[in-house]
Amino acid sequence: MTDLIKLRGVNKYYGTYHALRDIDLTIRAGEFFSLLGPSGCGKTTLLRVIAGFEGVSDGTVMISDRDMANVPPNQRPTNMVFQSYAIFPHLTVAENVAFGLRKRSDIAKSARAGLVEEALEMVGLGGYGKRAAHALSGGQRQRVALARALILKPKVLLLDEPLSALDKKMREHMQVELIRLQRHVGITFILVTHDQEEALVMSDRIAVMFAGEIGQMDDPETLYRRPKSRRVAEFIGKMNFLPGQVTALSAAGEASSGAPLAGHAPGTVPPNRTNRLLTDLMDKIAPGTEANADTDTAEEAAASPEVMTVDIAGLGAAQISVDQAPEGAKLGEVAVGIRPETLAILFEGEMPKRHECPGVVDEVVYYGDMTYYDVRIKDVPQPLTIAMKNLIGRPVLEVGAACRVAWDDRALVLF
Ligand SMILES: Nc1ncnc2c1ncn2[C@@H]1O[C@H](COP(=O)(O)OP(=O)(O)OP(=O)(O)O)[C@@H](O)[C@H]1O
Ligand SMILES: [Mg+2]
Repeated sequence: MTDLIKLRGVNKYYGTYHALRDIDLTIRAGEFFSLLGPSGCGKTTLLRVIAGFEGVSDGTVMISDRDMANVPPNQRPTNMVFQSYAIFPHLTVAENVAFGLRKRSDIAKSARAGLVEEALEMVGLGGYGKRAAHALSGGQRQRVALARALILKPKVLLLDEPLSALDKKMREHMQVELIRLQRHVGITFILVTHDQEEALVMSDRIAVMFAGEIGQMDDPETLYRRPKSRRVAEFIGKMNFLPGQVTALSAAGEASSGAPLAGHAPGTVPPNRTNRLLTDLMDKIAPGTEANADTDTAEEAAASPEVMTVDIAGLGAAQISVDQAPEGAKLGEVAVGIRPETLAILFEGEMPKRHECPGVVDEVVYYGDMTYYDVRIKDVPQPLTIAMKNLIGRPVLEVGAACRVAWDDRALVLF
C-alpha cells in the first residue's frame, strides 16, 4: 500500500490550549484507520486538520505528496461525515444525498440523479430516493449521511463517530456494513471513535490518543496483546496489574520456554539451573542492577537478553520473552499486566497447570456468555479479575467459593 496521508510534527493551539502535540502519522491508501481516545483528547481536531477545516499551528499535512497548507477543504480529496450528521428532515432522501454535489457546478444536472442512485446503492438504500428523510430509522439516516459523503467519490472518507447515536444492535450491524463498503469502494477510511471495541473490530490500524498526543499506533492485535503503556492497556479492554521484580535476564535457550508443561505438579516451577546461576551471580555483583558479569554467558545475556525471569507478587516466578516487556529490558521493579481472559479458573477434573494457586471468589458479574470473577489470592495485593466463558455444563461460582486459578507466562505484559 502506498502512503496517502502524512502528518509531520503537527501542533494545534486553540489560543493557549495545546490541542494537538507533535503528531506524526502516516496513513496508507485503502487503509481503514481509526483514531481512538477519551473525550476531549483531540480526535475531532485531528480529523478537521486533515479535512482542512482547521489550519495547523505548526507542522505539515501532505495528501498524495502534496502539501495541503493552502488547500481549502473543498479542494482536498477528502470528505467528512460529521459527529452530529445533519440530515435535512424536510427534504427527501435523494435531495439530501444530492446536497453533497451542491458545490460541483461541473457536474451536469442530468447526471445527478444517476450519481444519487449509485451512492444510495452503495449504502444499501437503493430505491429509497423519494422517501422523506424524517421517515427513516436512525441507521438509515446514518447511511444517507454516508451516501452524501460518498457521492463525490473522495479518496479519503473522514468519519467522526458516525455510529455513536445508534443502539448497540444497529451499531454492530452498521460496523459490518461499513467494513464491507470500505472493501467494496476501496476508499481510505479514517474513523474517529471512543469505543475501543468498535476500533478493534473495524480497523487495519489504530492510533490511541491521550491529551493531544498519540500514545500508540498499531494493528488491533498488537495493540491489545502488546500495549506499550499502562494507559493504553487500560483504555483497550481490562487488565490486572501486579507488582513484580525482574530477577534475571538470559539469552534464549538458557532458560526454559514459557510454554505450559503438561503433567507438572500444581504450584511447582521446573528448576532452571542457568537462570538461578545468573540470578545468584548478578546479586553478588550488584544487587538489583544489570549484570556486568565476568562469564561469557552472563555477558552475552546482559548485552542482548531474550528471556526474563519475573517474580510476581503472590504468584511466583515467570519466564517471559523480552518482547513482552518494554525495550531495554533491565532488572528491577516492574508492573505486570494480565488480561482477565488469559487467567483461568480450573473446574473439577481439569488437569493441573504449570502455574496455579488457590483463591476465593470475591465478586461475580454475569454477562450471559461470560462471567467475570474477582478472585482473592494469598499475597496478591488486590483481587484478580478473571473472565470465563459460560460453557455448557460449567457452573457459575458464587461469592465465597474456593477455586483454583491458573495463569500462563506467555500472557504477561511488563510495564
Ligand atoms: N474551536 C475550539 N476552540 C477552543 N478549544 C477547542 C475548540 N475545539 C476543540 N477545542 C478543545 O480541544 C480539545 C480537543 O477537542 P476535540 O473536539 O478534538 O476532542 P475529541 O477527542 O473529538 O472529543 P469527543 O470525543 O468528546 O468528541 C478539547 O479540550 C476541546 O475543548
Ligand atoms: Mg469529537
